Amino acid sequence: MKLFIDSAVINEIKTAVSWGMVDGVTTNPTLIMRAGKDFKTTILEICKMVSGPVSAETISPDAEGMIREGREFAKWHKNVYVKVPCTSEGLKACHELTKLGIKVNVTLVFSANQVLLAAKAGAALISPFVGRLVDAGEDGMKMIQEAMAIINNYHFAARLLVASVRDTRMVTDAAILGAHIATVPFKVLEAMYRHPLTDKGIQTFLEDWAKAKK
Ligand code: E4P
Repeated sequence: MKLFIDSAVINEIKTAVSWGMVDGVTTNPTLIMRAGKDFKTTILEICKMVSGPVSAETISPDAEGMIREGREFAKWHKNVYVKVPCTSEGLKACHELTKLGIKVNVTLVFSANQVLLAAKAGAALISPFVGRLVDAGEDGMKMIQEAMAIINNYHFAARLLVASVRDTRMVTDAAILGAHIATVPFKVLEAMYRHPLTDKGIQTFLEDWAKAKK
């Protein structure tokens, strides 16, 4: 399973990269706003740190605008993946950008049928927002299970990128279901390596080592 970091904060990405687990990065307009720096500068800085896909999101409401933005983003760096929403205009943009050889991440996906359509439109990545589904009282992981069955049944090239991850359990569940990628916020990544028994074990070993004959 690949792990992406869902962040536009350079220090968070740098730290996660140092742990050796960052296969890619996802950003969105909200994350860019929170990080507080210019969009293009941020994407380029991330591309320097990470060798995998870096998602940059379009904001146009129509396919024409998304295609224009996507063509521009794709010039910034070879690893830039263009994010478009799962609307009719977004699917149209996905189809056209894919024909131009530009990699697309179809985002704001909330159903297995949206996954099917995005895969058919040529998406390289498809991002179901599991946390937001759970917030809305739905079974987010059931949707991931259905989406993986669809991708596997028909051997679609699209990779399922589990997004809107709220906690460590969601990462485990996505991995058990065979999801290709999870994009994980920094605080959840930190929580993934922490375990009280690891800390307790280190403490005991250090105490015993101090008493050992050396
Ligand atoms: C994914 O690409 C999105 O940036 C992200 O996972 C959205 O998560 P949220 O629901 O926490 O905003």
